[in-house]
Amino acid sequence: MNQDRWSAVDRYVTELLAPHDEALDAALEESERAGLPVIQVSPPQGKLLGILAAAVGARKILEFGTLGGYSTIWLARVLPEDGRAVTLEVDPGYAAVARQNIDRAGVGGLVDVRIGPALDLLAELDDERVGPFDLVFIDADKANSPAYFSWAVDHTRQGGLIVADNVVRDGALADAEDDDAAVQGQRTLHELMAAESRVSATTIQTVGSKGYDGFSIALVTA
Ligand SMILES: C[S@@+](CC[C@H](N)C(=O)[O-])C[C@H]1O[C@@H](n2cnc3c(N)ncnc32)[C@H](O)[C@@H]1O
Repeated sequence: MNQDRWSAVDRYVTELLAPHDEALDAALEESERAGLPVIQVSPPQGKLLGILAAAVGARKILEFGTLGGYSTIWLARVLPEDGRAVTLEVDPGYAAVARQNIDRAGVGGLVDVRIGPALDLLAELDDERVGPFDLVFIDADKANSPAYFSWAVDHTRQGGLIVADNVVRDGALADAEDDDAAVQGQRTLHELMAAESRVSATTIQTVGSKGYDGFSIALVTA
């Protein structure tokens, strides 16, 4: 098994189950044209996010890490008319591209793109009492995943979901000696999920067009 095979299967699944419309194509094209890194979720992963949000009847979604708004579009598309997605992005240039992509996709009225370091923006969300959220997607700087998770547990309703991306990192997750900040962040996230009595969590390893990685999913139970 190799990367070519994983990518071929992703293409097959995308064509049948997660096909792009013009707005999703344009979101990727415009992001690339603007020089954004190509690190967004894959189409099947975007579809999964939408399925999870729909499954919990999400009305309020929080996303850490907007990039060009690709995952935001998948998430916002399953919101009801009075729903809201708040997405946090540190890079103003990325956020501007995302704003255009999200508006072009027809979900602009549902999405609040906030610019700044996510940890600073959380204080604003607290002040404005924007939560509690039905689904939180953690996909920003991985070293801060534990801090984002801790905040999310306190601000997600019972029965809601917290999803964290890129946790397996080519298998480095299992290596206690790996001193990469992102790996250590995802290991600490796992320790927090294990110790947190208010969630039931697991991690799924994945292969696909983005290589070997995985995601964690935590159901808030109390
Ligand atoms: C993997 S990308 C997000 C991809 C996006 N969720 C998608 O799938 O379409 C991570 C994003 O997090 C942003 N980011 C990094 N550190 C951040 C921070 N401290 N606060 C907010 N955003 C941050 C990066 O600029 C980048 O756009």
